[in-house]
Order: sequence, then C-alpha cells, then structure tokens
Amino acid sequence: ELNDQIEKVLDSLKISDEQLIHMMHILEEEMNAGLSPATHKKASVKMFPTYVRNIPNGTEVGQVLALDLGGTNFRVLLIDLHGNSKIELTSKIFVIPQSIMIGDGKHLFRHLAECLEEFMEKENILNSGTCYPLGFTFSFPCQQESLASARLTAWTKGFSCSGVVNEDVVKLLQEAINEKGINAKCVSLVNDTVGTLMACAYKDPSTAIGLILGTGTNACYIESLDRVGTWDGDYNEPKQVIINTEWGAFGDNGRLKHLRTKYDEEVDISSINPGKQIFEKMISGMYMGEIVRLIILDLLQHELLFLGHRDTYSDYKAALYNRGGFYTKFVSTVETDEGIKFSNTRRVLEDIGIQNPTYDDCAIVQHICRQVSKRAARLAGAGLAVLINRIGKSNITAGVDGSLYRFHPRFKRNMERCMESLVNKDIKFKLTLSDDGSGKGAAMVACVAERIFEHDK
Ligand code: BG6
Ligand code: GLC
Repeated sequence: ELNDQIEKVLDSLKISDEQLIHMMHILEEEMNAGLSPATHKKASVKMFPTYVRNIPNGTEVGQVLALDLGGTNFRVLLIDLHGNSKIELTSKIFVIPQSIMIGDGKHLFRHLAECLEEFMEKENILNSGTCYPLGFTFSFPCQQESLASARLTAWTKGFSCSGVVNEDVVKLLQEAINEKGINAKCVSLVNDTVGTLMACAYKDPSTAIGLILGTGTNACYIESLDRVGTWDGDYNEPKQVIINTEWGAFGDNGRLKHLRTKYDEEVDISSINPGKQIFEKMISGMYMGEIVRLIILDLLQHELLFLGHRDTYSDYKAALYNRGGFYTKFVSTVETDEGIKFSNTRRVLEDIGIQNPTYDDCAIVQHICRQVSKRAARLAGAGLAVLINRIGKSNITAGVDGSLYRFHPRFKRNMERCMESLVNKDIKFKLTLSDDGSGKGAAMVACVAERIFEHDK
C-alpha cells in the first residue's frame, strides 16, 4: 500500500495507451515536417537522408578501419569482411577525457588521430605501405551531402566542442589524420543507428530499422525516395535511402509538454543543452538515473522516504544529493531484485549514502525505478511503432543496440508489450540485439564507398 502522495508522483509518470497513440500522431507529423523541403529547416525531428541506399548482402569484401565515437566508449576497430558473411574484428577502447569532450574541436580530432595511430601501431599496420579505408561512426546529428561529407548540426549527449558545429567532420578528421602522417582515408561517415541497421541486415534481410537505446536514443529506417522531399541525389534503383530520424529532438518545439513532469524539466534545465533533445531526455541512459534521483530527493524532502535516517543524510556529500549521483545502471540493478529481500536495492542505496534502508524504502525506490524505465520503454516502443507502421511490410526486423537495452532486465519486454497494441495487426515485427553493430556497419558502408571511390579514380 503506497501513501497517496507517493502514488501521485508515480502517477505523473504514467502514460496511457491513448496518450501514446496521440503522441504517435504528433511524431508522424513531425517526421513529415522533417522530410519536406518547406519545413525541414525549422523542424525538430530532422529526418536526415544518409546517402546509404543499399543494405549489405554478405558479399562485401575488404579490410577497413573504423572509429566509433559518441556512445559510452570511443573505439578504434579493424574489420575483415571475408565475403560469405564472415567477419573478423579487433578493437580497442580509448578514453575521451571530459576536458576534451567540452574543449576545442581541434583537440578532439587530434586525440582521435592519436588513438588511431596507437591502434595501427599495435596491429602492425601503421607502416605497411597501404592506405586503409576508414569508416567513421559519428553518433551526432549531421546534415550529409554525400557518404563522405557531413556537417554537424548540433552536439548532443555530453559533448560540446568548439569550432565543430556547421563544419564537415569528415574533413576535420582527415586533416588530423594527415597532420600525423597516418596512412588512412576516411571514406564514409555513418550514425550509430545506421551502423546498427547495416550490421543487422547483413544477417537478416528483413531488417529495415536501426535503433539505439544507450547514452542517447535515436532511430533510422529505410524510406522510399518518393517520400523524401529533401532528397537531392539521383533516383536510380533502389529507390530508397536510409533516413536518420534524430528523434531524440522530438518535443524540442514544445509538443511533448503535456507528457513531461517537473523532474523532466529539472533534468533539462540543468543539462548542457537546455530545451534540446527533449524526447531523448525522457528515455535514454544519460538521463534516466538522474530522473530517479530527483524523484527520490523530492520524496525525501517531503518526508515520505528514508524516515529513519534524517540525521545521516544531511550529509550533502552523499551521492544522492549530487547531480549524476544515481547512475542509470543502478536502475537496472534495483529492478533485478525479486521478492522481499531487496539485496541489490540495499546495496545501491548504501552506495548513494543511505545506510540500513527499511523494507518500505526499498519497495518505494524499486517502484520509482520501474515506473521511470517503463515510461521510457513505452515512449521508445511507440516511436518504433510509428516507423514500423510507416514501412508497412509484413515482416520487419529492427536491429537494436545500446547499454540501456542491453543491460536493463525488462526494457525489451516492456517495449514489446506496449508495441503489441500499437503496431498494425497485419505486421510481424522483431527486435534483434546487434553485437558490435555500429563498428561492423561502418565497415560495410566503408567497403561499398571504397569500391565507388576506386571506381571514380
Ligand atoms: C555501441 C556502439 O554498441 O552502442 C556505439 O558501438 C553506440 O557506437 C552505442 O553509440 C550506443 O550505446 P551506448 O550505451 O554506448 O551509448
Ligand atoms: C543522440 C545523437 C544521435 C545518436 C543517439 C544515440 O541522440 O544525436 O545521433 O544516434 O544519440 O547514440
């Protein structure tokens, strides 16, 4: 039995099926605005054409490098595509210090080139005399003009390097690579959603969507050219192109106001990009733990939680009182507890500075986590349902990647459950976890781009 006031807070996080269906209509309108030349400029959901037209068929052959920037980890990869659907891969994770994430763009790209050099040295390919093609997975919104030119329109997630917005990031990367005299040529740039779609399509040809639920959230899908008013390329077969929706920015024009809580507003205001990425801030891993922390803090300040601990938590150094102090991975940990022992929840609460929580404390915290993650799963599920219904084929697979989807114990189930009533009845859909998707996908695109490049020479 929950106290009325706690019930009220939890209720503010509930979104009914009717509300989801209404939101799906708004999202569809916003997507159409992004695709139309008359409204694209001021549209919040940008719907960028990616210039990726073909999905791989398993015959791609080549050895390529890839850089994967924008998720939890920055990685450098070397990928061998053997044709016959066989892929070999080696990779190394490098750290991007916080100071570089918000520093001068020149330093960011120099750092990427240095990591690339170190990796190539380790793999014994630095001085081999061959120029390696490189695919760049760059997981931020970009206006592309071709596979190998992409202007950053805005930083998202924790990044905000100066001198990069409106610039061609392929050019910036290539300049840094050349400065170091590294034998590599960046031949293509893809978003992580596109990499994920490509890698999944390599194994399953019914793949038409790539979805990321990680630090940020975003989706891409295969769209027919006749629905892409902003398309400025050729109309050769196949008459389709992958669209990077950048749906994280859905709501930036105020159209999700009715679904947001005061906690969402607080998360937004104290972020480095207030007013931006509103949908993303209600869903993704960069923000979920913080929403939970703000709710816990609110209940505590109204004396509805941790009553036995009034003296110890006046310690403002405790994680609970600090922005980012409740990690999103804690939400997953708390939700793995079943039954009445709450051993994981107790551990998490001790971590954030609450000693000896009561049974009620644990139960309430678990309720909060469940409600916040369920809301996120339902919002993402509704977004996905819009894409599935729009594609309208009888069998559709979405390739999915990202830490939230991977590690949360019931995110997938919650998504699928709500999608059952939102997806058109004549469509069978499937969510497939994609391993190393964006790296492999970037390599596939680079292989194809390299062939075109060789051909044009
Ligand atoms: C990874 C990809 O698997 O998933 C990244 O390699 C991508 O490119 C990421 O950005 C998204 O998840 P997260 O949780 O790392 O943001
Ligand atoms: C953010 C980025 C987007 C990316 C997503 C997932 O929303 O803007 O490009 O795909 O995060 O990483």
